[in-house]
Amino acid sequence: GAVELGPYRHYMQKEIFEQPRAIADTLEGIESITPDIFGDKAFNIFKEIDSVLILACGTSYYSGMTAKYWIEAIAGVRCDVEIASEYRYRDSVPNPKSLVVTISQSGETADTLAALRHAQSQGMQHTLTICNSATSAMVRECALSYITRAGVEVGVASTKAFTTQLAALFLLTLTLAQVKGRLSDTQEAAYLKEMRHLPVALTAVLALEPQIIAWAEAFARKENALFLGRGLHYPIALEGALKLKEISYIHAEAYPAGELKHGPLALVTEEMPVVTVAPNDSMIEKLKSNMQEVRARGGELYVFADGDSRITSGEGLHVIRLPEHYGALSPILHVVPLQLLAYHTALARGTDVDKPRNLAKSVTVE
Ligand code: G6P
Repeated sequence: GAVELGPYRHYMQKEIFEQPRAIADTLEGIESITPDIFGDKAFNIFKEIDSVLILACGTSYYSGMTAKYWIEAIAGVRCDVEIASEYRYRDSVPNPKSLVVTISQSGETADTLAALRHAQSQGMQHTLTICNSATSAMVRECALSYITRAGVEVGVASTKAFTTQLAALFLLTLTLAQVKGRLSDTQEAAYLKEMRHLPVALTAVLALEPQIIAWAEAFARKENALFLGRGLHYPIALEGALKLKEISYIHAEAYPAGELKHGPLALVTEEMPVVTVAPNDSMIEKLKSNMQEVRARGGELYVFADGDSRITSGEGLHVIRLPEHYGALSPILHVVPLQLLAYHTALARGTDVDKPRNLAKSVTVE
């Protein structure tokens, strides 16, 4: 039936604010890490596989990119991520020992389904989907599945589907790590504790909305924006740029910050806002020197830092601090202010936020 808008102006805003609930629902019932949560055959399949191949489109592709960092670092399993529309038409080298993971909100995206069938036709039978629709073609056609419980997502620009995919992908990472003998009981308990705390941590991030509204006023007058991130947060920068371009029609590009001097620095002038995803992780010092490169060219920095970081506001440098640094799960928190920035910028520009021009919620034909 119809989804009520309640006190919100748009479905996108409502869905952004539903994320603490969506994550809690997606993780409900997970008492410990066990392959069974992906299906009865999961243990045998996870034992057998030697790598992961993620296939997806759009925002779901960016959750897959984030998962690559987790799966390789935590589970020690090689992971490739491919755009479904490329993979399905490319001559690739099939690996029957690879776990093929499709990620899809709808479970009906034509290119993702075709990519899955292409992998199967090449002899890759170990398939798993992370999907928000339990009755979709994707779930029917994959051996294993994990259903995210984001609930119905109406806004064309995906928000809660993305963060719940990340939660499910983190569970997959921990499960693979366990099966491969890389997860101690202590680590398992510590990760599960952090996951359970996510709804509370997300609620604290959502409380930053008034500060983000102030930034959106400045963004609404721009025609271009650059997003930077490193490591786990490079895909988050990509997702932030995608959100902004989809609904505000501002041309936005994301780069891994280390690539700045190989091109995008040529675009940086006083007119260029540069959004930097700057959690307090091992890359922070590198990122700070990238930020100096931007400032030296007059670029205006809009930095999302963590509470305990030593980045302070100054001329041409605006800082919003997330309450705490969240370790490996930080991408789930850091994407939220980027969703809000895109939303409020679009609102200030008066675009049709829930139904951006030329885009569809689910692309079921090629
Ligand atoms: C469309 C939607 C996006 C979504 C993408 C993939 O482009 O507008 O929000 O990320 O399709 O959809 P899926 O249902 O496969 O996740």
